Amino acid sequence: MHSLTTLLVASLATLALTKPVPQITTKGFSVTGTVAKPLPAYPVRLARVYEKYGKPVPSNIAAAAAAATETGSVPAIPEESDVAYLSEVNIGGQTLTLDFDTGSADLWVFSSELASSYTEGHAIYNPNKSKTAKKLNGATWKIRYGDGSGASGDVYTDDVEVAGITVKGQAVELASKVSSQFLQDPDNDGLLGLAFSSINTVQPKPQTTWFDTAAAQGLFAKSLFTVDLKQGAPGTYDFGYIDSSKYTGKITYTDINESQGFWEFTGTGYGVGDGNFQEQDIDAIADTGTTLLLMDDSIVEDYYSQVDGAEVDQQQGGYVFPCSAQLPDMILGIGSGQATIPGGLMSLGAVSRGSSSCFGGLQSNQGVGLSIYGDIFLKAVLAVFDADNKRFGFAPKSS
Ligand SMILES: *[C@@H]1O[C@H](CO)[C@@H](O)[C@H](O)[C@H]1NC(C)=O
Ligand SMILES: *[C@@H]1O[C@H](CO)[C@@H](O)[C@H](O)[C@H]1NC(C)=O
Repeated sequence: MHSLTTLLVASLATLALTKPVPQITTKGFSVTGTVAKPLPAYPVRLARVYEKYGKPVPSNIAAAAAAATETGSVPAIPEESDVAYLSEVNIGGQTLTLDFDTGSADLWVFSSELASSYTEGHAIYNPNKSKTAKKLNGATWKIRYGDGSGASGDVYTDDVEVAGITVKGQAVELASKVSSQFLQDPDNDGLLGLAFSSINTVQPKPQTTWFDTAAAQGLFAKSLFTVDLKQGAPGTYDFGYIDSSKYTGKITYTDINESQGFWEFTGTGYGVGDGNFQEQDIDAIADTGTTLLLMDDSIVEDYYSQVDGAEVDQQQGGYVFPCSAQLPDMILGIGSGQATIPGGLMSLGAVSRGSSSCFGGLQSNQGVGLSIYGDIFLKAVLAVFDADNKRFGFAPKSS
């Protein structure tokens, strides 16, 4: 893992766009630790035993399970060019706007521990102004993401509300240092990690993510969340349920391998436009914190060979093409299904304001072996992150 981290940090940094802030983000990829797997509330566990053996759940147990659980939905608002999506979170009575990231497992925030010159324009978390904050003595954290950005500081616990669901005693990591990438983006006050808690960076004892803490407190009927991102428009994160109005047809699932802490699965291949589907194993992660779709060079070259005028622009750090070009669809095989990213979603827009050159949504993963199915992919589907059943699912969005 360490070498992969180093490679991604070294290589993906070159993907930064020379365009107005904020930059393309590639979050995720942090150090590993271990955390005990959380258990849902007792009535929920009991109800699952009945379900597992195909028996009807007795009404009193179903009612207790329902009373013990919550569901909620929070908007995900895109920044310029959809480089990141931001959602509101309430921490100890203070509202911050965070980037929800399925590629990392730390909840960290701009805080009163940063010099005020660094927090201009940001909402910050000040534990001194919260009645429910408690210092987690001796705990520190430090994270570095795939795009070379990073942050570090100390830790408090507090009540954290997302989508109307309040988790008590959640570890909140206060930044006392942040890298320049975060300073350039006043709309983003930190990250809320939704990968597996095994890669949380708090030392000496790793902490659980907001989602895992909520699941451990039995707050969800189903320990899953769904992501419905949209091009240039607000989408949603839903917790604890699947909203059937958000997709059509059926959800296709594939098993995930959480050993590296990611929502990682083996894709079954890809296709470009109307061309043949190329069967091959693709080691991929579903990552809301990454702007782009990052794949092996051979696939990226295959795709852009079908785009008139496409070329690698060293200055821009990746493939660009005339904004007037017709882009083919990108097909990704997942489980028994195929997700189609329409050509219209395969561009990130002009490389700078007013330019007629556009930056590609599909770029090279720089040979690291792992493909990152970021927002370019997620905008095309309703995505299901199912922790209960250790699987990732997708379905076509309802229009
Ligand atoms: C809280 O207030 C104390 C006393 O003024 C100060 O020393 C400390 O730095 C503050 N903590 C934070 C996190 O702002
Ligand atoms: C999961 O990934 C790890 C590390 O890449 C690998 O060693 C292991 O065999 C994988 N497990 C399964 C079930 O594929």
